[in-house]
Amino acid sequence: MMRMAGEDSIIILQAAPARIRNNDVHYPYRQDSDFLYLTGFREHDALLVMIPDDGDGKSMLFCRNRDPEREMWDGRMVGLEGAVSEYGMDESYDIKEAETRLRALLQDRDRIFHDLGRDPLFDQRLIGWLNEFRGEARKTYHAPEEIHALDHMLHDMRLYKSREELSAMKRAAKIAIEAHELAMQICEPGMNEADIHASLLHTFTRHECETSYVPIVGGGENGCVLHYIANNAKLNDGDLLLIDAGAEYDGYASDITRTFPVNGKFSSEQRDLYEVVLAAQAAAMAKAHAGNQWQAIHDAAVRVATEGMIDLGILKNSLEEELETDGYKKFYVHNTGHWLGLDVHDVGEYTIDGHSRELEPGMVLTIEPGIYIPPSEKNVSKVWRGMGIRIEDNVAITKDAPKILTGGLVKTPDDVEALMAG
Ligand code: GLY
Ligand code: MN
Ligand code: MN
Repeated sequence: MMRMAGEDSIIILQAAPARIRNNDVHYPYRQDSDFLYLTGFREHDALLVMIPDDGDGKSMLFCRNRDPEREMWDGRMVGLEGAVSEYGMDESYDIKEAETRLRALLQDRDRIFHDLGRDPLFDQRLIGWLNEFRGEARKTYHAPEEIHALDHMLHDMRLYKSREELSAMKRAAKIAIEAHELAMQICEPGMNEADIHASLLHTFTRHECETSYVPIVGGGENGCVLHYIANNAKLNDGDLLLIDAGAEYDGYASDITRTFPVNGKFSSEQRDLYEVVLAAQAAAMAKAHAGNQWQAIHDAAVRVATEGMIDLGILKNSLEEELETDGYKKFYVHNTGHWLGLDVHDVGEYTIDGHSRELEPGMVLTIEPGIYIPPSEKNVSKVWRGMGIRIEDNVAITKDAPKILTGGLVKTPDDVEALMAG
């Protein structure tokens, strides 16, 4: 990171602010993913400064001093000593000194790496200092001339996962697999989506995980609502249940979707449509190899899903026609995947110079085809209406066969039924 920023530069990154939910209550704190990536530090009121050409490169963390009274309310703080001894910073300072010290550190630097727009008040102060420096008469230093976006560099690094990152992601996947398995095992008609939601969170939290996003637990036609998070409807005999839930371990996300029958037995139509989504996913997986383009995954899934929908009479035109006119998009509405990492929808470009990016070892992505037939869809036989099916797995690209991090979770209709019966 510091090598890429180069001499005479300074890197500045702020921790995510604590956010109020209502009155005296805060949202559970989640560190900014870039900050977490560079520091591992999980407290708010912190600022990272890096100076590449000072010795081997110097890292400084500005954070809160430990405060026994504060700790009595909120628990242990890392403090200035901990920032060095536990987080490997070269130096640490009280966050209260950040402005005066930062102002001095900026002088004589040519380039600042900082993401403008995340904190407008901070940006204003930063730009104010630069203007001050420029305006000062008889100054003995020069003012930085350029502010570069930090995220271009950082996000490209984050796209390629290290061995340690992959091991955290495997753990996040493992716990999510357990949570989905248990959900399938306990599910029965008459339960509420909330029962399943609670069970997922229970598995996550008792294994040192958080939920990497609010789980989607959609029974019946709720499975067609892509961002359904109400999770409070009764689960009916004969309906499918779509669960999209992932665990976050040590900051790293998993992101799994399974769709299964509430009563443990697929109807023949449910099985037919499910098999289409499964075949689409298999076709997409077959493209998840280093050297292939990112777009090939989506194209493969769309082609097989469209063929399948034509075979079932859900789409009425020829394959070429449906693909050319985007007819399939009525029921295949989202992309087939995204990068996965510290963010569920992780950072990293999908195209380079207008071309779909080539897959490379270390990249981790989801493959998640889905078909959703809205309950109000009059042009499709009643048997399909209100069916929403998605199957989502997490895949690490390697130089050989892709590693399916979530491959341990049942997926074929027979395996799902066997687990639910057992
Ligand atoms: N859970 C969000 C997604 O699947 O992209
Ligand atoms: Mn996803
Ligand atoms: Mn998902």
